[in-house]
Amino acid sequence: MRQQQQLLLPHLLSLLLLYVTLSRGHNITSILAQHPEFSTFNHYLTATHLAGEINRRLTITVLAVDNPAMAALLTAHPGLSLYSLKHLLSLHVLVDYFGAKKLHQLTGGSALTSTLFQASGFAPGTAGFVNISDHRAGHVFFSASFLSASAFVKSVEEIPYNLSVIQISSALSSPAAEAPVTAPAQVNLTALMARKGCATFAGLLSATADAEQTFASNIDGGLTAFCPLEEAMKPFLPKFKNLTADGKLSLLLYHAIPVYYSVEMLKTGNGVVNTLATDDTARNYNLTVQNDGNQVTLRTTVTVATIMGTLIDEDPLAVYIIDKVLEPMELFKPAEHPAPAPAPETDKRAAAAPKAGESTSAKASPPAPAGPEGQPGDQKAADESAAISIGVYLSMAAAAAAAIVVVA
Ligand SMILES: *[C@@H]1O[C@H](CO)[C@@H](O)[C@H](O)[C@H]1NC(C)=O
Ligand SMILES: *[C@@H]1O[C@H](CO)[C@@H](O)[C@H](O)[C@H]1NC(C)=O
Ligand SMILES: *[C@@H]1O[C@H](CO)[C@@H](O)[C@H](O)[C@H]1NC(C)=O
Ligand SMILES: *[C@@H]1O[C@H](CO)[C@@H](O)[C@H](O)[C@H]1NC(C)=O
Ligand SMILES: *[C@@H]1O[C@H](CO)[C@@H](O)[C@H](O)[C@H]1NC(C)=O
Ligand SMILES: *[C@@H]1O[C@H](CO)[C@@H](O)[C@H](O)[C@H]1NC(C)=O
Repeated sequence: MRQQQQLLLPHLLSLLLLYVTLSRGHNITSILAQHPEFSTFNHYLTATHLAGEINRRLTITVLAVDNPAMAALLTAHPGLSLYSLKHLLSLHVLVDYFGAKKLHQLTGGSALTSTLFQASGFAPGTAGFVNISDHRAGHVFFSASFLSASAFVKSVEEIPYNLSVIQISSALSSPAAEAPVTAPAQVNLTALMARKGCATFAGLLSATADAEQTFASNIDGGLTAFCPLEEAMKPFLPKFKNLTADGKLSLLLYHAIPVYYSVEMLKTGNGVVNTLATDDTARNYNLTVQNDGNQVTLRTTVTVATIMGTLIDEDPLAVYIIDKVLEPMELFKPAEHPAPAPAPETDKRAAAAPKAGESTSAKASPPAPAGPEGQPGDQKAADESAAISIGVYLSMAAAAAAAIVVVA
């Protein structure tokens, strides 16, 4: 109980450390605020948390619709949840830069471009792409399905080549984006983890008093959870069973940060973060998020774990699969690792193991596009690539281990 209460306090430290390194030049909310005709659109960008996602990105185009067009959209879909609306609006954010000039000079007269909806991993197939076509007579149209097209009206703001805001005549529509969405708060975390490769960790969460409940009650305010894959979790079970009841709970709570971090944020932020196990006054049970390009590692003084894939990344909830159990210094001692080993060969191979993880985990960080061009990343493909790279990683780690044994 003591723990649950402190968890709900704002974790300013973790917020500060990561956000500071993330600020970009633009602020879509204040840009649109200068154009009151887009106030409804602007309001919903904030309500759906898309504004933050737009501000964090570079090389992006926002297709804004004015208040009458937003009213028409909301009237046409009376029961639309905020989560479905988020998908629909994320279709209006192209992960490429299109100023008015470029729109009128499309090679071949049309372009297919990826959107934040595609990047969310919720778009089936290529439902998250928008087709831009430049018809003769200079009329440019945008469409996300065969059902309808919206016309280019005017350029609202251009910050080349970071952010372009363009007005289109009506909201884009697409059956996939409008489909009902399970609210993240209703996501059954343990069921999700169990289904996607973390069954053992999920089992411990459900079986440990207060653990599952604490994770669940933090989702609304933002939660980033890390579940160790089966191959890491199973050998750890004897050590887990050895912990006291308090220790077990703390270990599980150590695998989540009470702040939402997208893949993109983790890739661009570095720093010490609090976890659900942290006692705010002691600032204990913290971990260090460190990244090097596409690889994100989580460091305790005992463990260095790598993010291998994404189970869900939908503000306010993100769950990532990691290759090792996070062992806090509060419960475990660092492995004895003094040996400036006599055989230099051994060192070299040992150092090669994390390298292997590095290149594979780059592939395994779905659904957010790594760069401005925005790779399509539907969830299935993301899962598959995660599964593949985990396999590759493990076999490479095994090979490295074998090499060490041979040398020794
Ligand atoms: C575009 O973004 C980059 C990186 O944040 C920044 O250095 C540059 O000043 C921005 N360009 C403009 C025109 O704001
Ligand atoms: C963007 O601007 C809005 C309104 O001007 C402001 O409330 C908000 O804090 C700003 N966001 C950031 C990240 O600076
Ligand atoms: C995009 O739309 C244009 C005009 O309707 C069409 O000719 C083109 O084939 C479409 N492109 C794709 C990839 O759907
Ligand atoms: C989550 O799902 C599992 C089984 O799939 C179930 O036992 C558990 O009660 C569910 N938890 C919640 C909070 O609904
Ligand atoms: C469990 O704890 C005992 C006593 O502290 C220790 O000797 C033993 O090695 C531990 N077992 C594991 C698997 O950590
Ligand atoms: C992280 O935890 C350690 C050990 O409990 C503590 O000494 C340290 O001050 C913490 N660091 C931060 C930045 O909170």
